[in-house]
Amino acid sequence: MIPNQLETYIEKIPKAELHIHLEGSIEPATQLKLAEKNKVKIKYNTIEEIRDAYKFKDLNDFLNIYNMGTKVLRSEEDFYLITMEYLAKAYSQNIVHTEIFIDFQTYERRNIVPEIIMNGAKAAIKEANEKYNITTYLILAFLRHLGAKSAMRTLKKGIEFKDDIIGIGLAASEIGNPPELFKDVFEVARANGFRTTAHAGEEGPASYVKSSLEILKVDRIDHGNRAMDDPQLIQELIDRKIPLTLCPLSNIALGNVVNMKEHTLKKKLDLGMMVSVNSDDPAYFGGYVNENFKEVTKELGLDKEDIRKLSANSVISSFLPENDKTKLLKDIELFDKQY
Ligand code: HPA
Ligand code: ZN
Repeated sequence: MIPNQLETYIEKIPKAELHIHLEGSIEPATQLKLAEKNKVKIKYNTIEEIRDAYKFKDLNDFLNIYNMGTKVLRSEEDFYLITMEYLAKAYSQNIVHTEIFIDFQTYERRNIVPEIIMNGAKAAIKEANEKYNITTYLILAFLRHLGAKSAMRTLKKGIEFKDDIIGIGLAASEIGNPPELFKDVFEVARANGFRTTAHAGEEGPASYVKSSLEILKVDRIDHGNRAMDDPQLIQELIDRKIPLTLCPLSNIALGNVVNMKEHTLKKKLDLGMMVSVNSDDPAYFGGYVNENFKEVTKELGLDKEDIRKLSANSVISSFLPENDKTKLLKDIELFDKQY
C-alpha cells in the first residue's frame, strides 16, 4: 500500500512523458469501435477477449499482437481519435508535455500514406494544446527488423514533415538488429536537425546501449535497463547525464524484469542516473504513467523526493527548449512546496 498522500502527490505533480508509442495507447474499446467502423475483421468480439489475449511471452510475441491492433486504423480521423484519446488521458494524469513515437513503416504496405497519420495526429495535438495546454512532440520511430534501407527511405519521408517531427528513434525487435546497422540513417537524421533516441538494452545487451551512444550518437536511450551489466557504461551514463526513459510495467509484461521488486529504477535514481517513468504501450501493459509511478513506488519503496526527482528528470530529459524546461521545472518546484 502507498499512503494516500503519496498517491495524490504522484497523481498531481506536473510531469512529462517521453516514451509512448501512439498505437500502444489504443484501448480495447477503441480497437473494437474502429474495427466495426472500418469493417476490419479482428480476432476478438469483446473487451474481455482482447484483455485475455494480452499475455506476452516476450517482446516479439507482443509486437505481433500490437501489429494486429494497428490494422483497425485506416483514416486521418482514426489517427486523430487515438491521438486525442491518449492526450486526454495524459492530461488527466497531469502530464504537461509528451513526446510520442509514430511509425510510418507499418502502414506502407496498407497504402496508408504518412500524410494520413500526420494530419490526424497534428489535428489532435493542436486541439489538445488549446484545450488542455499540453505540448506534444512527435518522434518518428524506425522498425529495426526492416533494416537500414527501409529506415533511410522512411527518414526521407520524415524530412518532408520536419516542421512537425522533432526527432527519430529506433524501435521493435532489438536482438539481432544492432544499432550500428543504422549508423548512416542517424547521421543523415542529425544532419537534418532531428533529435535522436534509440530503444536499447530493453531485451538486448549492454553493448547495444554503448553502440547507440558511440555509433548512433543518440541524445537519449529508451529503456536502457541492461546498461546495469556494464559498470563503465553506468559511469558514462551518469557523467554525460544521458536520459534513460524507463517503462516499468512494460518490463514486467514482456518478461524483461521478473518482478517489480527486481527493477533497477530506484538503484539507477540513487546512482544519479537521468531516469524517468514512462508507459511505452499503456493499453497493453496495464497502465499509463501514473500507474507506472504507483507500482514502482509500492514495490521499490519510493518516497516523495524520489517522485519529485523522477518528474523533474522527465522534463530535463525532454526535447523541449531550455526556457520551456526551466518554466516546467519551476512549476514542479512550486507544486512540491505547496503540497
Ligand atoms: N519495444 C520496442 N518496440 C516497441 C515497443 C517496445 O516496447 N512498443 C512498441 N514498439
Ligand atoms: Zn518502446
